[in-house]
Amino acid sequence: MLVFAKIKSVQKKLKSLKNGTTIGFVPTMGALHEGHLSLVEKAKKENDIVVVSIFVNPTQFDNVEDLINYPKTIDKDLELLKSIFCDIVFTPTPEEIYANDIQSQSFDFDGLEFQMEGKFREGHFNGVGTIVERLFEIVKPHKAYFGEKDFQQIQIIRKMAEKRNLPVQIISCPIHRENDGLAMSSRNIRLTKEQRADAPFIYETLNKAKIQFGTKNASEVLKCVENEFKNHPLFTLEYFEIADEDTLLPVETKNSTKKYRAFIAIFAGKVRLIDNISL
Ligand code: PAJ
Repeated sequence: MLVFAKIKSVQKKLKSLKNGTTIGFVPTMGALHEGHLSLVEKAKKENDIVVVSIFVNPTQFDNVEDLINYPKTIDKDLELLKSIFCDIVFTPTPEEIYANDIQSQSFDFDGLEFQMEGKFREGHFNGVGTIVERLFEIVKPHKAYFGEKDFQQIQIIRKMAEKRNLPVQIISCPIHRENDGLAMSSRNIRLTKEQRADAPFIYETLNKAKIQFGTKNASEVLKCVENEFKNHPLFTLEYFEIADEDTLLPVETKNSTKKYRAFIAIFAGKVRLIDNISL
């Protein structure tokens, strides 16, 4: 496994590959877990070479404290990637990516950016678009892999690739969960013992909502979810929404010809967790 921190060196290596070599790319912010590794494994199956980037992208954080506290476990990350035969890891510094101008570009994602995460994390998707486009330019992947854990992010990246005619195929991968149902997340290691023990509650709530939507309208399901969280001593609900998978617009009633998902964001103390479920 080769590890590069400089754009020039990773590009030099990638340019030296035999013509026709397919490149699969998995962008990450590190603190890797099995969810990330499942993306790398899928990429390995579908491409000749797999590149993983590890970069905690400052422009997508709307909260400085969250950026500072974002877990960093680079030695363990590299060990994990080596153990599953990842080929190339790109670990740039913020200066390498942004030089002296740590700023986002402004994107138009046809309104996808104004829903859910976009409402609560100002500038987040401009930051994501900026870094992902930059990384695509550097790595020039044939296929790039993203997890449904961040479903809105996938839709935004698909939109960006389509609107900017980027020559890359966006592949979505299912959510990896702990045995008790908690969606794997780099932020889970910041939970207290008590918060971690109660965290399966999030996925349980989504499952209940899944059963309810069909006989109940979205606003009635939302009321039930709000009630569950009102009584919860450790978690605060930020949002719960049932939305159309394609437009991400909120829906009220089920229409069997469309695909829907329920999305949730909660706070456990200062740790923010998100999850979603197909309905
Ligand atoms: P990060 O949170 O590190 O996630 C990297 C990729 O792993 C994303 O595509 C995310 O959806 C996926 N992922 C995370 N947890 C997962 C899980 N439990 N199951 C399946 N996939 C999971 O998302 C980002 O980084 C950044 O926004 C990034 C795209 C790298 C841009 O900075």
